[in-house]
Amino acid sequence: MTEIIEKIKDIAVEISDAIKTKDTGYADTCNISGDIQVKLDVISDDIVEKHLSCVNSVNEIISEEKEEPVKFNENGKYLVAYDPLDGSSLIDVNLSVGSIFGIYKGDYSGENIVAAVYVVYGPRLELVVARDNVELFRFNEKTQNFDYIREIKLNEKGKILGPGGTQKCWYPYHKEMIDNLFKEGYRLRYSGGMVPDLHQILLKGGGLFAYPGTTDKPKGKLRKLFEVFPFAYVFNKAGGLAIDGENDLLKLSYQGFHDTTPCFFGSNYEIEVVLNTYKGRK
Ligand code: AHG
Ligand code: MN
Ligand code: MN
Ligand code: MN
Repeated sequence: MTEIIEKIKDIAVEISDAIKTKDTGYADTCNISGDIQVKLDVISDDIVEKHLSCVNSVNEIISEEKEEPVKFNENGKYLVAYDPLDGSSLIDVNLSVGSIFGIYKGDYSGENIVAAVYVVYGPRLELVVARDNVELFRFNEKTQNFDYIREIKLNEKGKILGPGGTQKCWYPYHKEMIDNLFKEGYRLRYSGGMVPDLHQILLKGGGLFAYPGTTDKPKGKLRKLFEVFPFAYVFNKAGGLAIDGENDLLKLSYQGFHDTTPCFFGSNYEIEVVLNTYKGRK
């Protein structure tokens, strides 16, 4: 496990470099979820594969950009599911983007995730590791190492709200819940990149990020294996909660590698609000 986390540090540095130096344009290909890929989606995916293929404990990998898993070592204990470049549609406008890694044992269901790591490519390069607790690291340009910064813990209640999904397709009760939170004083924080949006909630002590089921996409947009389970693990370990409206996200299983689910990540107070709104409605 430590070896995988160390490798992710090398991956983060190499992807960060690629973001700074490579073409930021679109490729003319789509991934299995139907996203039009940017060239950096593919480059980042290759960087992760290259590094993880050298780790003996990695049995196989699967990513947002791969239709099927790639097998490395059948004696390896761990499966790694990852989003190599999250928020890639923001690459051309130079907003923050990220990478997300879920480390699983057995299969890719939520209850089998044993660690999660995400990387933020922003004005600074940061990395968050969730195992027993959640720790923030920052890349030090001088030493070329990641310095430990602090533990991340959520408060009972936050102040910011990231409401995803196309508003005209929100269910009326979802719209009412979001409107009420704004009336309560929550401030809008939504960039369109899940990594920076959730990182902001985690570092500022709490809030709510919602990507609900909508009339056009009843199962939401965000993918269980690469995006939802890893962040659900981070929020749980940071003292917050992550649900699909009703159930703990980490209790969910999967049928297809690219399955999506409605998802809500937050501190305790906001998740209670979601539970009360969604009770009996899913
Ligand atoms: P990716 O770039 O890996 O395909 O992920 C995009 C995701 C996520 O980062 C973000 O929260 C969400 O898509 C934004 O979707 P909307 O454009 O519908 O808000
Ligand atoms: Mn994508
Ligand atoms: Mn993503
Ligand atoms: Mn992606």
